[in-house]
Amino acid sequence: MPQLFSTAYHQCRWNYRDEEDVFDVDSKFDEHDIPYDVLWLDIDHTDGRRYFTWDKVLFPNPEEMQNKLAAKGRHMVTIVDPHIKRDDNYYIHKEASDNGYYIKDASNRDFDGWCWSGSSSYTDMVNPDIRSWWADKFSYGNYVGSTPSLYVWNDMNEPSVFNGPELTMPRDALHFGGIEHRELHNAYGYYFHMATSNGLVKRGNGKDRPFVLSRAFFPGTQRYGAVWTGDNTAEWEHLRVSVPMLLTLGLTGISFSGADVGGFFGNPEPDLLVRWYQLGAYYPFFRAHAHQDTKRREPWLFGERNTELIREAIHTRYMFLPYFYTLFREANMTGTPVIRPLWMEFPAEEETFSNDEAFMVGNSLLVQGVYTQRAKHVSVYLPGEQSWYDLRSGAAYKGGKRHKFEALEDSVPAFQRAGTIIPRKDRFRRSSTQMGTDPYTLVIALNSSKEAEGELYIDDGKSFEFENGAYIHRHFKFSNGKLTSSNAAPSGVQLGPLTIRHGNSPSFLTIRRPNVRIEDDWTIKIL
Ligand code: NOJ
Repeated sequence: MPQLFSTAYHQCRWNYRDEEDVFDVDSKFDEHDIPYDVLWLDIDHTDGRRYFTWDKVLFPNPEEMQNKLAAKGRHMVTIVDPHIKRDDNYYIHKEASDNGYYIKDASNRDFDGWCWSGSSSYTDMVNPDIRSWWADKFSYGNYVGSTPSLYVWNDMNEPSVFNGPELTMPRDALHFGGIEHRELHNAYGYYFHMATSNGLVKRGNGKDRPFVLSRAFFPGTQRYGAVWTGDNTAEWEHLRVSVPMLLTLGLTGISFSGADVGGFFGNPEPDLLVRWYQLGAYYPFFRAHAHQDTKRREPWLFGERNTELIREAIHTRYMFLPYFYTLFREANMTGTPVIRPLWMEFPAEEETFSNDEAFMVGNSLLVQGVYTQRAKHVSVYLPGEQSWYDLRSGAAYKGGKRHKFEALEDSVPAFQRAGTIIPRKDRFRRSSTQMGTDPYTLVIALNSSKEAEGELYIDDGKSFEFENGAYIHRHFKFSNGKLTSSNAAPSGVQLGPLTIRHGNSPSFLTIRRPNVRIEDDWTIKIL
């Protein structure tokens, strides 16, 4: 189960240069009224790409920097890669080489390969003792300059070896127990991710959930953190393929995944960047990222109209956070993916089988990307027998049919399925953390029998207390003109008032301030 903040919007770039750059970007988000939760630092925040260190000139006060962001409910992520610089004055290298913790080459010497840090060796994460040693490196005492609001990014953990025969570790390199790399290559990145994730749990005495993003993964990775699809390019085609990639990951059990919004390489034209934000707002993991050689592309750099459109896209994600979080809980309990191919929800409809341009977020929302420049129209297949409500206009469209829509500039097409209830939070703050006590909005889309159902899962968004029952899980049902909230599971936490809002066409209705509490059983009768 991810921490709530990590399901919100992340701002990344290789690299945010120094503390001043960090504060500048942070304050511009506020100036432009765009929420974000996490600011990321890539490899050049370190002292010569020695992970767990800081460049003392560029980042002289890392704790103060994190605390300033934390005061607004924001977090920071720093990168920690598995290649360790072979420098005797670097404590990680010293300990790893003294203890014999490195993967060996075929002649049984510490494997020496080239990566971002220059000549490097790789700790043998297959060995549980070495994982435990690595995990300890994340304690606040060991990772100097880290604070409780700092989380981690594991990159290059395939592992990437620039001068390796296949850009990775040679197959005959030797691991713990004399096992050759060829036997466990696909699992190395997973063990590295596991060790890091365990380290973040350990540093807080097992209280808080970890957040670690990884580029390499294996079955089971979903227990340790999120993944992203690696280095894409700022091209329309890469926006399009992000959807089948993320759907496939979800089907394999790895729900918490995303693609670099905007495209890592190259400079997206504003139209592409905006469309990417509009689609990326529905990725389970929503992060913008860019290569160091690209032009700066923070959301406010493309003129007022584009800033407005990107703000709107990010707001959409914040609005749906309660729904996403509920879906993450479902994935946590059952493995059911957060985003789903249409055929998963409509397995009887052949028309959905080859459709990987649209997808479902949970069982209630259908999202269609826009994949061409200055698109005038978008064709959307709406499956099933029930209607679909356009998120923007509230207009209903028939299911089991392909529709041609005008491509609106201000969003990608998205529809709520008739018969569903989606929980939202419609007030915008600086970060998800600041939305904690805001009221919920329930959007009720009635089906042809005038019924609808939905769920809401809430916990503290941070700790493991939900495992001891500290959560609220409600089931909402609308039928016979009555909206009923009942317990979907035992609960414990208290919550504030609730707002139910619901459009204004005949099957739309708004109830403001119904004066009921989210954790209680209640029924509202519509006369
Ligand atoms: C490769 C990663 O895929 C990319 O996201 C990152 O910015 C660079 N390494 C530099 O760390």
